[in-house]
Amino acid sequence: MILVEDMLHEGNKVIDESRQGEPIMAPRPKSKNGRKLFLESYGCQMNFADSEIVVSILSKEGFETTRVLEEADVILLNTCSIRDNAEQKVRNRLVHFKNLKKNKPSMVVGVLGCMAERLRDQLLEEEHLVDMVVGPDAYRDLPNLIDEVWGGQKAVNVLLSREETYAEISPLRLDSNGVTAFVSIMRGCDNMCSFCVVPFTRGRERSRDPESIVAESRDLFERGYREVTLLGQNVDSYKWNLSSKGEVKDPEKETVNFAQLLEKVALVHPDLRVRFSTSHPKDMTDEVLHTIAKYENICNYVHLPVQSGNSEVLKRMNRGYTREWYLDRIAAIKRIIPDSTISTDIITGFCGETEEQHQDTLSLMEEVSYQMSYMFKYSERPRTLAERKFEDDVPEEVKSRRLDEVIAVHLRIAKNGTSSMLGRTFKVLVEGVSKKSDQHHYGRNSQNTIMIFPKGDTQKGQYVYVQAISNTSVTLIGEVVQTEEG
Ligand code: 5AD
Ligand code: SF4
Repeated sequence: MILVEDMLHEGNKVIDESRQGEPIMAPRPKSKNGRKLFLESYGCQMNFADSEIVVSILSKEGFETTRVLEEADVILLNTCSIRDNAEQKVRNRLVHFKNLKKNKPSMVVGVLGCMAERLRDQLLEEEHLVDMVVGPDAYRDLPNLIDEVWGGQKAVNVLLSREETYAEISPLRLDSNGVTAFVSIMRGCDNMCSFCVVPFTRGRERSRDPESIVAESRDLFERGYREVTLLGQNVDSYKWNLSSKGEVKDPEKETVNFAQLLEKVALVHPDLRVRFSTSHPKDMTDEVLHTIAKYENICNYVHLPVQSGNSEVLKRMNRGYTREWYLDRIAAIKRIIPDSTISTDIITGFCGETEEQHQDTLSLMEEVSYQMSYMFKYSERPRTLAERKFEDDVPEEVKSRRLDEVIAVHLRIAKNGTSSMLGRTFKVLVEGVSKKSDQHHYGRNSQNTIMIFPKGDTQKGQYVYVQAISNTSVTLIGEVVQTEEG
């Protein structure tokens, strides 16, 4: 399936300003120095990681970030297209910005991320909501595009790339707790799940040079960070070809796969925790699981989206596995990493889903005992295989009722899982002050359960041992029994 080629011709284009009904542009400022950037992000962790690359690129041009919308010279929205309601949220924000712009016409409003490619013409030319539209592979071009807008034009670059990984750009950490950080290891997706818009909005899959991933992780550790989460749409298909750079001659050692990358990052320092997301059931190998088991600092937690517990629905979703295959992968996780937790993504009311098929999802949830589930109603997305091949025929109220049932099962199972941890003592990385009480710190155990405990003399970024005393459905409340040194 060739996707990117379709999109290439739509790439870099500047739209003439002399169009009716468009916002009035201000004259171009002399320099970007001291200019204020307001950036808001929606969607997945990948998008938030991208925002840190955007800020890095623009800060080199002299931009400073601001949290005060009214003082912004440039407003950027990093957007998500995954479900219709994600797009609606962004639209409402854009209408708000358009109103703000009436008082400050020099303000540049730009859309980044997944909605850029999808809704370019609509946002720029039909609704005149924005001045600039920039796709996820075009962020290096942002300084030029902003100049174009300041020059009185509207600017677009939604070109998708086969190579861009922003490998050498050091992300500028936003809203950081100084302890945990995301590290992007690949971009795009080649899976073509029939419900998913991502291959169209983020393009073809490509992996980032492992050396740059290790260097970024090491740099984070040296700056006091104690946890990295390696990010990709499907981390299990991470693959770097060393020979393409002429680095290795031995054909047996020509590639770095995900398990090997994980090991390289784990070896940066034993006090640097490593997490990753997202695994794909069709590709997750025992080698990855053995690597997790081998290193204490690779966390015992796997996010393994199932989407549905019924093999026929999975086939229509083009997921590449059956219920049995998925359960075999779960058995492998439980066998190889016995003290681990598992989380998932579930879609209710996918095209043609019957009541029995929905029941299969509920029974699978019971069988696996997920610690966390991210649950969604199916939302048809333009251009996807499902939109072209199947009818979105499950009524809205049935989708909602099934979602409620899935949520109810999740809450019960998750609470049982959390309760089963009571009495145990866990090594916790202190991440910061609890939102609910400034007398408490919070952190996570290796299994990704949030633990809250009295601050005492614990410090952010320190490892402490916390005994679980009580719990809510997904949080443990505990007492520190030993600090790192003690
Ligand atoms: N409708 C509902 N949920 C979706 N997801 C992806 N596409 C859709 C869609 N069209 C969910 C999947 C995926 C998660 C990131 O979002 O569960 O794993
Ligand atoms: Fe992330 Fe997917 Fe949303 Fe794009 S569509 S921002 S990849 S969640």
